[in-house]
Amino acid sequence: MNLKQSPKIHNQERRDQKIVVLRWGHRIHRDSRLTSHVALTARALGCSGFILSDSEDKKLKETIEKVTRTWGGNFFFQMGTTWKSNINNWKAQGGVIVHLTAYGENIQTSDVLNRIKASKGDILIIVGSQKVPKIFYTNEVSDFNISIGNQPHSECSALAIFLDRFFEGNELSSSFQKAKIKIIPQKRGKKTLIQ
Ligand SMILES: C[S@@+](CC[C@H](N)C(=O)[O-])C[C@H]1O[C@@H](n2cnc3c(N)ncnc32)[C@H](O)[C@@H]1O
Repeated sequence: MNLKQSPKIHNQERRDQKIVVLRWGHRIHRDSRLTSHVALTARALGCSGFILSDSEDKKLKETIEKVTRTWGGNFFFQMGTTWKSNINNWKAQGGVIVHLTAYGENIQTSDVLNRIKASKGDILIIVGSQKVPKIFYTNEVSDFNISIGNQPHSECSALAIFLDRFFEGNELSSSFQKAKIKIIPQKRGKKTLIQ
């Protein structure tokens, strides 16, 4: 099936498994720009929400919520809760915890992605900023430690590649409900539809 023939998939219809990103280790000012890029990546590539754990950054929350109001879709931004309470709640509801780390099972050379999909539970993806606590690598926290290649790079690139592989590219053709602005793709120039 080529790109033109592939069906348009709406946010909530992509897969039964819902994905939320938990960002740990955010330092206000120092990490604001990168954390906002992680949240925007999560939103644009099919996640349902973003949790800024163990930290609060009101400006960041306003930025992401403004983007969602303008560009549509349902995407929540939560902050101020601890990583531990989020992990415990997620597990209690039958969810799966995926920790993105350069040290984990390689997404390309192992069958870890199939095992995550087969688990059926909603997925909480942990991405770090500064060095994460060692406990994140253990089964007290993570069900899967998954690497996007075994070289250190960026939480933003790791998240984007994971989501693209998980959704098999379908997230790139999704339409966002209640958008005030829509981009009409063009060979050249910029065309938008204001609703
Ligand atoms: C820039 S790294 C921080 C590394 C930190 N200084 C350390 O020593 O652990 C930030 C986050 O990016 C993600 N990351 C970086 N490279 C990755 C890779 N190859 N695969 C998966 N995640 C990766 C991880 O979530 C990591 O916590």
